[in-house]
Formats: sequence, C-alpha cells, structure tokens
Amino acid sequence: MSTQENAPPRGLQIAIDGPAASGKGTVARAVAAALGYTYVDTGTLYRAVAFQAARAGIDLEDEVALSRLAAELPVRLHWDGVRLAVLLDEQDVSSAIRAESVGQGASKVATLPGVRQALLDLQQRLGQAGGVVMDGRDIGSVVMPDAELKIYLDASLEERAQRRLLELQRRGIEATFEQLCREVAARDAQDSGRAVAPLRVLPDSWRLDTTGMNPEQVLQAVLEEARTRGAQELV
Ligand code: DC
Repeated sequence: MSTQENAPPRGLQIAIDGPAASGKGTVARAVAAALGYTYVDTGTLYRAVAFQAARAGIDLEDEVALSRLAAELPVRLHWDGVRLAVLLDEQDVSSAIRAESVGQGASKVATLPGVRQALLDLQQRLGQAGGVVMDGRDIGSVVMPDAELKIYLDASLEERAQRRLLELQRRGIEATFEQLCREVAARDAQDSGRAVAPLRVLPDSWRLDTTGMNPEQVLQAVLEEARTRGAQELV
C-alpha cells in the first residue's frame, strides 16, 4: 500500500528516450532493478525485426514484407530482475542482436511507419500495467505519452562513441574511435530526422546530460527524480 498520495500502488511508468549509446540501457536496467520494476528495451524489438529480416533474406526497403514480419514476430522479452533476455522463436538472441550491423538495420527498419505500427501494440501492452522502465526513442511521445516521468538522456557525441568503444573492446570486437563517431552520428541523424516518431526532446521531458558522469551518478540522479514523482520500491 502506498503511503504517498501521488504514488500509484502499481508503480510509475518511466520512459527513457535518447540517442544511440547515451547509456539508456544501463541506467534503465539499474533503475528497474532498484525499484523492483520491469525493464523493457524497445530497441531490441526493432533489432529483432532487422535480425529476422536478414535471416529470411528480406530487403530492408520492403515495407510490406517487413511490416508483416514485425506483426507476426515470435518475440518474447524476459526480465528476471537483473538481465533482459530476448527470445526469438524461443531462441535466445540477446547477444546476436547487439551487433552494430543489426543496430544499423534496426535504425533503418524503424523509419518505416508499417513496422512502427506493428510494434506499437506490443510495447503498449508491456507498459500498461505500470511499474515499468521502458527505453527507446519515442517512448514518451508515442508509446507511453502519459508516463509520470519522461527522461531525455543525452551525452556528447565523443563521449557516446568512447563508451561504445569500451563496450566493444570488452566484448573483444575491434573498432576505432573515429569509426564509432561516424556511426553514432549517422544513427543520430536517422533517428532524429525521420518523419515518423522521431527522437526529440518533449516539452515535458526531464533532460539529463550524462557527459562526465559515471553510471552510478546517473542512476542516483534518476532515482532521486523518480522518487520526487512518487516512485517507491515495489516488493
Ligand atoms: O536503442 P537501440 O540502439 O537498441 O535501438 C536500435 C534502433 O531502433 C535505433 O537506432 C532506432 C530504433 N528504435 C526506434 O526507432 N524506436 C524505439 N522506441 C527504439 C529503437
């Protein structure tokens, strides 16, 4: 039972939007774990569409085929409180869909209105019960427009490329800082410049520039803001 009048017992809807490599996933996971909320990474759905399309040999320009594929996508997200598993046809593709090529493909299929529409219902169902942290590009604007907290998470291009470089190095994947700067900038342009549901700062966005902040500092800043809006740990 909630003790604060403004705290819905079901838990808040927390939307986190921001550009590629801004650290949304890291902070969203940590916030969900701290509050006992569910975590939904909507980028995995667009990645799963691009991944499945590549497997099926579908052209990334073929909107009709991609929309049908998205509508029938046999995808399941499983959050165990620490890790989010992405299952396609019950096969764990969580690591495979993190490849940069899949991210580029996801950004491309995400420009197609038919694909976005096909994935919207699923995302809204995952968020409707509250007690959820959902990250993506259009969560506060389209998927959960009534979210109690809409965060726009940002960081400089150089810092985002540097974070991506460290992540890839940890996974033993070779890349250069210059190459990542170019890739991240290209993705920014595609995600913010598209006609349908572009990434943008909303009038009611709570903006956090994480340049120079470590993950723990970002987590504490977000938790503090969430608590001022009535978030409490769910047990
Ligand atoms: O967050 P990410 O890098 O995993 O997302 C992959 C791509 O999917 C991203 O470049 C744009 C797209 N995307 C989107 O358009 N809307 C969302 N809510 C989430 C992701």
